[in-house]
Amino acid sequence: MAGITVVGSGISVPDKVVTNDDLTATLDTSDAWITERTGIKERHVGGITSQMAIEAGRRAIEDAGLVPSDIDVVLLSTTTPDALVPGTSATVQAGIGVPGGAFDVNAACSGFVYGLVVAAGLAAIGSGRVLVVGADALSRITDWDDRTMAVLVGDGAGAVVVEPVDGPGDLLSWNFGADGTLRHLLMCDHGGYLFMDGKEVFRKAVRVVVESAERALSDAGLSAADIDLLVPHQANLRIIQAACQRLGIPEERTAVVIDRYGNTSSASIPLALDDALRNERVSPGDHLLLTGFGGGMTWASAVLRWRG
Ligand code: ACO
Repeated sequence: MAGITVVGSGISVPDKVVTNDDLTATLDTSDAWITERTGIKERHVGGITSQMAIEAGRRAIEDAGLVPSDIDVVLLSTTTPDALVPGTSATVQAGIGVPGGAFDVNAACSGFVYGLVVAAGLAAIGSGRVLVVGADALSRITDWDDRTMAVLVGDGAGAVVVEPVDGPGDLLSWNFGADGTLRHLLMCDHGGYLFMDGKEVFRKAVRVVVESAERALSDAGLSAADIDLLVPHQANLRIIQAACQRLGIPEERTAVVIDRYGNTSSASIPLALDDALRNERVSPGDHLLLTGFGGGMTWASAVLRWRG
């Protein structure tokens, strides 16, 4: 059975940057509160999901030394599609010029990890290369007069090219979870704005991330000490710190970009992964633990041996 290896990575964020100080012009908030409670300093806004996904996808394909016709499937994780119909992945497929199939995955902020694991499943049943993109434009479903959400969100996209390889490949284990009874904690109805019960999401998030990550580690036959880099969903620096502490992974071994991007939902894990790759924080043979949680609630973890 074929496994997968990640052969390219790329990102895209909109040009417009909004700092914490910029937000204080219209909201009763402060740079000190946002920094202390969330770790966020600035975010990029004004993105369109398909456009960011196309740009990130093109960059990932180029980074892999490939051309669009080398890709068989576009898998787009997003919770902010351009429209209800058609799926945004088809717009991305056409925009990049990929000849193969395309479909959307929506598992909120866990979606990129879900997508990566699905790509491995496609490889196992004979697909060619899959472009896995996480892209979200949360700024479009945010009430900018609501300080509880407006300080948290940002827009962006990150993409990886996944290639089938003989043997087990890079993905050593994975874990998925969902609890739809918690729908009310984080939601956005058609035409509405994002709503979140922040305190409750915080509590739940730390628990499910730790449980899911521990299961994935155990299934891979590894322990926290074996992890060279944790790549967590970037929702709140304090959630990342609490998860690190409970998992026993030092913060120095964690990819953090929340200060620059805020919470970009599906894009946050590939943005953090790409940043680690660009800064040469990942070497062949390293063990990576990707873990996310989000609306649904959903959660997902994956353990990779990089270019194993
Ligand atoms: N600026 C200033 N003050 C604020 C702000 C703000 N933006 N927001 C709330 N406050 C005030 C509150 O009114 C409250 O005041 P009070 O003490 O006088 O009542 C005080 O600050 C503390 O508020 P809390 O809600 O208790 O703050 P908390 O420390 O819980 O932080 C936060 C809030 C950042 C939202 C946190 O709960 C959190 O990060 N939750 C999880 C977020 C998350 O993980 N989301 C998941 C994914 S999001 C997505 O998928 C789109």
